Amino acid sequence: MRYTKEDIEELNRRFADAEPQELLRHFMGVYGERMALSSSLSIEDQALTDMILGIDHKARIFTLDTGRLFPETYALIDKTNLHYDIKMEVFCPQTDALQEMVREKGINLFYESLEKRHLCCQIRKLEPLSRAFRTMDAWVCGLRRSQSITRSEMRCVEWDERHGLLKINPLIDWSEEQVWTYIRNHRVPYNKLHDQGYPSIGCQPCTRAVQPGEDIRSGRWWWEDPKHRECGLHSQKE
Ligand code: ADX
Ligand code: SF4
Repeated sequence: MRYTKEDIEELNRRFADAEPQELLRHFMGVYGERMALSSSLSIEDQALTDMILGIDHKARIFTLDTGRLFPETYALIDKTNLHYDIKMEVFCPQTDALQEMVREKGINLFYESLEKRHLCCQIRKLEPLSRAFRTMDAWVCGLRRSQSITRSEMRCVEWDERHGLLKINPLIDWSEEQVWTYIRNHRVPYNKLHDQGYPSIGCQPCTRAVQPGEDIRSGRWWWEDPKHRECGLHSQKE
């Protein structure tokens, strides 16, 4: 189903004051197996995992394994599967494209230029994501508006023009503190790196710890200009 601008406005108005669970329940009813949570194992995604499985234990949750995640993130995938008795879907990069990139540009190409960093994100994240999308009409993400300047305009319900599906951000208005309160109250498993100064966690070579008081995303692609610090997953442009 395609949504017009007006449909999206209407949905945002309708769910403006709704709890995330209400939003999830509604769209899970509409899309069933054609909807999935895209999880990076962040605190937001872990809270959403807990909510979504509380509504339907068969709900789909997938993660993009770039091959460069932290050992603590792999441990959390395992722990989450065991905790909820589920099997998260894992999408991996295509071997041929990955091998060619590494052979031609090196294993740590991302530090050399923005172009090379985008190529790595394209091959390790975006291509696997587009494969995941073939089985979906709606995707749920853990984006929050206060995470960064690049996210301040995001809405709770969006039409993802680039991928041609509905994008649902149930925690868009939540603060970091609200997410932590949910995690603590529901005893949700979380990445141990959060206790070691990592508020936002992506791939290991592209993430570092931040000092108290520093911006929560300043440890992601820290060598780049803040306005470039997205991997392309949430960009509306080609
Ligand atoms: S990123 O663009 O900088 O990597 P961030 O880590 O803040 O994004 O995550 C924002 C949302 O994007 C997550 O809540 C999740 O929905 C999705 N996402 C990011 N990385 C992944 C991943 N590796 N696998 C699945 N979903 C992801
Ligand atoms: Fe590659 Fe870094 Fe992007 Fe991960 S975050 S896919 S290692 S450039």
